[in-house]
Amino acid sequence: MTKEDSALIRGLEGVVAAETRLCDLDGKNGRLAYVGYDIDELARKATFEEVTYLLLYGELPKAAQLDAFTVALTAAREIPRELTQAFRLMPKATDPMRVLQAAVATLGMSDPDTTDNSHAANVRKAIRLTSQIATAICAHHRVRSGQEPVAPAAGLGHAANFLYMLTGQRPGGAAVKAFDASLTLYAEHELNASTFTTRTIVSTQSDMHSAVAGGVGALKGPLHGGAGEAVMRTLMEIGEVASVDAFTEKALAAKRRLMGFGHRVYKAGDPRAAILRGMAEQACRESGQFQWYQIAVKLHERIGGAKGLIPNVDFYSAPLFYSLAIPVDLFTPVIAAGRIAGWSANIIEQHDDNRLIRPRAEYVGPGRRAFVDITKR
Ligand code: ACO
Repeated sequence: MTKEDSALIRGLEGVVAAETRLCDLDGKNGRLAYVGYDIDELARKATFEEVTYLLLYGELPKAAQLDAFTVALTAAREIPRELTQAFRLMPKATDPMRVLQAAVATLGMSDPDTTDNSHAANVRKAIRLTSQIATAICAHHRVRSGQEPVAPAAGLGHAANFLYMLTGQRPGGAAVKAFDASLTLYAEHELNASTFTTRTIVSTQSDMHSAVAGGVGALKGPLHGGAGEAVMRTLMEIGEVASVDAFTEKALAAKRRLMGFGHRVYKAGDPRAAILRGMAEQACRESGQFQWYQIAVKLHERIGGAKGLIPNVDFYSAPLFYSLAIPVDLFTPVIAAGRIAGWSANIIEQHDDNRLIRPRAEYVGPGRRAFVDITKR
């Protein structure tokens, strides 16, 4: 397609590429709701299990429905022994997102519904993946750290189980609440790059595991979910509150991209960042690591003042996750553990009303020319 025939929109900014009943993202007013429920209320009042149910079934569960859903999630927590064996064979230094991508593809090899793209099979796979991704992240971390994986505990909810499987310690109530709310805040976000990737993959009638593996690959990048890890490394680079001003000056002069700031859709503020800020303040204070919160707040003020950039979801989640003792290179896998709810709900929407996603590219290469034989080039 040539320039004359096309209207190129770089980065597909503002392009509407799907209908959805899942996520109402109001970028102008900085508001976000899942299936009609404001994110702030969901983070405060619902568990991640309820939010996942909402995204998969379109309504919040009644008590009996939540019980049955919890039983299904619990039954799916174990991962195949072969996957844990595979973790043992992988290079110890491999980054956990690359491992997670391989893990999702591997889980697709043993899932009884792998190639069944029906609505019912997709819901079953979504439940299994939600549980298995959490277990896989923790099992891989234990194995790479020279420890034995911790089996999931039957009596613990999804968020509590994650922290338990990661550390082997039963987590406190405040930590569980903060982690659970974080998973909810990361659960869904319309056509972000990774969700768009999952929809593109299943639009070819490919399956959920293939799409989620692709989503993990997209989420990994530092302009997307990978930003959280980069935020924490920035806070560590700054080191103390007194160094924020000097850091900011240098970063601005160098036109450095500041991780955790800016957003394609939110220009006035990311509502998730505001909620995470409060949770980070409490968690950093309680863990005796208040300096990370203080550095973050001062950096937010300075960057906001100088460039008008807003902190996005990944900014305050960094000190929050750090104070919950989550290793920095597991921040992005943790986002995947939340976003699996939205990925699978979007995959189901796409499969249920599919049209192949196939945009065009504007051709800017050389004009037509005669083929030159290899001896004459
Ligand atoms: N640091 C410095 N400058 C920035 C930043 C930033 N974080 N974000 C935007 N800008 C500047 C750009 O340099 C550009 O300036 P210019 O017009 O003078 O060239 C202007 O703001 C517009 O920026 P774009 O990159 O065109 O905005 P876009 O919508 O493409 O980017 C993005 C959004 C990728 C998130 C960007 O803000 C960014 O790189 N942020 C840092 C990475 C990050 O935090 N990603 C997480 C996003 S949330 C999530 O996915 C979970």
